[in-house]
Amino acid sequence: MTAKETHLLLVEDEAALREATAERLIDRGYRVVAVESGEAALEQLAEFAFDIVLTDLRLPGIDGSAVLSASLERYPEIVCVVVTGFGTVQDAVNAIKLGAVDFIAKPFQFEQLLHVLASALEQRRLRSENAYLRSQLEERYRFEGLVGQSARMRELFDLLETVAASPSTVLLTGETGTGKELAARAIHHNSVRRAHRFVALNCSAVPETLLEAELFGHVKGAFTGAVANRTGRIETAHQGTLFLDEVGVMSISLQAKLLRVLQERELERLGDTRTIKVDVRVIAATNADLQQLVGDGLFREDLYYRLNVIPIFLPPLRERREDIPLLVQHFVARLSPHKKPAQKVTVTQEALRVMMAYAWPGNIRQLENAVERALALSRDRTQIDVQDLPPELRDNSPAGQEPTVTLPADGLDLPLYIADVERQLIGQALDETGGNRQQAARRLGLKRTTLVEKVRRLQPGQEKRQLPPK
Ligand SMILES: Nc1ncnc2c1ncn2[C@@H]1O[C@H](COP(=O)(O)OP(=O)(O)OP(=O)(O)O)[C@@H](O)[C@H]1O
Ligand SMILES: [Mg+2]
Repeated sequence: MTAKETHLLLVEDEAALREATAERLIDRGYRVVAVESGEAALEQLAEFAFDIVLTDLRLPGIDGSAVLSASLERYPEIVCVVVTGFGTVQDAVNAIKLGAVDFIAKPFQFEQLLHVLASALEQRRLRSENAYLRSQLEERYRFEGLVGQSARMRELFDLLETVAASPSTVLLTGETGTGKELAARAIHHNSVRRAHRFVALNCSAVPETLLEAELFGHVKGAFTGAVANRTGRIETAHQGTLFLDEVGVMSISLQAKLLRVLQERELERLGDTRTIKVDVRVIAATNADLQQLVGDGLFREDLYYRLNVIPIFLPPLRERREDIPLLVQHFVARLSPHKKPAQKVTVTQEALRVMMAYAWPGNIRQLENAVERALALSRDRTQIDVQDLPPELRDNSPAGQEPTVTLPADGLDLPLYIADVERQLIGQALDETGGNRQQAARRLGLKRTTLVEKVRRLQPGQEKRQLPPK
């Protein structure tokens, strides 16, 4: 499957029309996903950057104009064509106002549809040469600096808002680049402590020997090199928030001291006997498994429970790919101020597909860097395309698949092996789709007729009869 082909989402509740249109479009080389409702269309759009949405306007439930708006909001570059009932001109006018490129009235000739689709694509191509990027993301899809529209991110925003209103200690976990620090800042800025400081300390960035002095401060002469009095980070964060990043690397003895701060709300500077009262909210973060460290005796269990009062997990990007288009828009808008405002930068659907298929081990930070790089490479062009993306994305097979096949030492029978793999994958596709051959074929990147043929050939006991005699 090449990303160059035109991917079309067909939304039509009349089964006969839907199936006939889908089959004929597939025969003309379109990659088609056909669904029967607006609800199903929104699900598809969350997962995949289609080039064209062809939707019936009148649908039970979520109607075509809602599908249209949702498509354009997520993918400013998508081409929308609506199908209207006979004689409902006003519907068509409204759809065009909402951003549809064109419409076609029922009943239509298939050739007529092909023509409308081709010219809509062409029109969009011309228009996007100086297209306008909607940089104003909707408020509801962000919380402070965090952007996201997936269900998991919206849940996270709610949780962050609730937590911000409480004084509790928070433990943020998640892979590198998932936004732990951003989440910590968001909590602080929404809390009653917002007028005071947010003090961040990355425990792994300070040498172990200096970490204690950094946190607790010291008096002059407390140790070699302590030439003056110094306020520690904990004190600096008084009445504000202390963000302790990578807490997992702290030594056991320092952990004991931190525990005391959390329990007694007091500390002494190094080399001093005076006890200082502090009022700080601690937010800790780690991408190590603290529970594992506790098990290995490297992290105090009591401190773990003190920190883990409210655990918040930041999901990896590959588990919420539907946030990618929005994040890309966000970073493009933020990182391209040097381009003239008249030439807002857009991203092709093909480039988005490549980005949505990648596994992003470095999560959002890696995505941000990829966008920055693409903007630099695209220089005077106002459109980011696949060639501007980092090579590791372009070479990647879909969805982070790793090579799973190794050649056994004594070799194998390739045709038999391939036939076996084929049988297994077809079986899975049919299971997943409840035996729906059209959908299973789509999952496999095959034409329905090809799938039907393969199924027939692969049926146990039939291979011999069906295979051409050699
Ligand atoms: N939901 C989001 N929306 C917009 N930008 C985000 C989001 N999440 C993370 N970022 C951006 O991604 C980058 C990495 O985020 P952050 O530093 O908060 O990650 P982290 O989890 O602390 O990573 P690490 O574990 O490597 O320290 C930052 O530039 C941040 O602004
Ligand atoms: Mg961080």
